[in-house]
Amino acid sequence: MTTTTTTTTTTDEAFEGYLGAHAQERLESYKDFVRIPSISALPEHAADCRRAAEWIAADLERIGVEHVEVSETGGHPIVYGDWLHAAGAPTVLVYCHYDVQPVDPLDLWTSPPFEPVVVGDRILGRGVADDKGQLHLHLRATEALLATHGSLPINLKFAFEGEEESSSVNLEHWLAANRERLAADFAVISDTGFFEGNLPAITVGLRGMMYAQMDVTGTSVDLHSGGYGGVVQNPANAVATIIARLKDADGRILIPEFYDDVVPMTEADHAAFAALPFDEAAYLRRLGLPELFGEEGYTTLERRGARPTLDVNGIWGGFQGEGAKTIIPAHAHAKVSSRLVPDQDPDQIFEAFRAFVLEIAPPGVRVDVRSLGGGYPSVTPIDHPATRAAARALEATFGREPLYVREGGSIPVCATFENKLDLPVVLLGFDPPDQQAHAPNEWMDLRNYETGIRTVARMWDEVAALGRDAFRVGTGV
Ligand code: BES
Ligand code: MN
Ligand code: MN
Repeated sequence: MTTTTTTTTTTDEAFEGYLGAHAQERLESYKDFVRIPSISALPEHAADCRRAAEWIAADLERIGVEHVEVSETGGHPIVYGDWLHAAGAPTVLVYCHYDVQPVDPLDLWTSPPFEPVVVGDRILGRGVADDKGQLHLHLRATEALLATHGSLPINLKFAFEGEEESSSVNLEHWLAANRERLAADFAVISDTGFFEGNLPAITVGLRGMMYAQMDVTGTSVDLHSGGYGGVVQNPANAVATIIARLKDADGRILIPEFYDDVVPMTEADHAAFAALPFDEAAYLRRLGLPELFGEEGYTTLERRGARPTLDVNGIWGGFQGEGAKTIIPAHAHAKVSSRLVPDQDPDQIFEAFRAFVLEIAPPGVRVDVRSLGGGYPSVTPIDHPATRAAARALEATFGREPLYVREGGSIPVCATFENKLDLPVVLLGFDPPDQQAHAPNEWMDLRNYETGIRTVARMWDEVAALGRDAFRVGTGV
């Protein structure tokens, strides 16, 4: 039998003393890491992504993690490392990503994105929250444990990826090729955050993704709209026509078969969303919008966490400059994505999207639809012993029981861990909910970061106290 109380305490005074003594050094290291502009989507930053990977590898080596490797993938490298000397204790695989989103529009940043600054309890900069801050807090927890005890209470494996923000194109292959090396009792993904009001939360659901580009082509060059207007199809109008037919006025998606595999919400699902302490008026105020909008029959949190979407991310073509230019554009384009929920399949949704776009495309232009990637949705169990351990660790360190939230964002590797590597997943993330990830002035709450270090260490104690057997129940291995 296992107990639910912690018996070993590596998170003791020595650990706390070490963290206290190294607070300044830790902040400098955090800033150094954020200074590396590891934007995975932009080819001109490929060398910076490699530099970030090497920075992590050097840090892992320094703190005593072993078998550290900057592993090639064909894209940006993945950093692996492990510490496996806790004989008989559970093994956990930790995943974070070191790549960040592009920084435009640059003029809306109050300080340069790769020159992190501390303002009160906040640190500002691209990646401070998503996801370099979370990766960094794992390094610091490991460092403090190894420095004060010479050992960890459990076995740890680290896999730090550099392509999460650009659909993890090479990750799946790398995971399959390293399946043995990554074997663990469960995985911890630290790439999510707290609930509205900065309340401690464990994410228990993520949406999947279908991302596509639509290219509509007419003539080889722009035409004079006087000479040709009225006698040819206009590609920009055609893009607008297609987009207008993808959803109805109530927000319902009109692609045939789109909803076929959506698992309907149960009464228990509705109750779980309704029980969250959500202040919709405050949420609306924060967004500065006149009102919220979404699918009929669902609450805001349900629309975000349990219902699929279809959104235009960008639309372009024709004349964008000052003043008036009279043309029929030669071509026009749109990037369209859907957030998916269980049991939607990204490949099937892409095919359904493509077939529908081609069907409704107006005559007189060529329409091409191609996939820009995708990922599966996932739901993680609340009652898994790893989730319970994370909950106890959060409560012990943040002084409050966590909420359980199905979130709207996507981390496709979560489903890959669960379904392809048979690894249960705990989404243990520390971002404040309004951290402006992907936007200008991304920030991290330094209290979340600091307490997060203690939470991670505490969780390893909780997991050690449970012992390996706790994680074998019902796994069939
Ligand atoms: N950290 C986010 C995922 C996230 C966002 C989880 C909000 C929970 C709430 C991650 O870095 C991210 O941005 N993912 C992309 C995935 C896409 C590129 C496939 C996303 O959600 O857009
Ligand atoms: Mn992220
Ligand atoms: Mn992100």
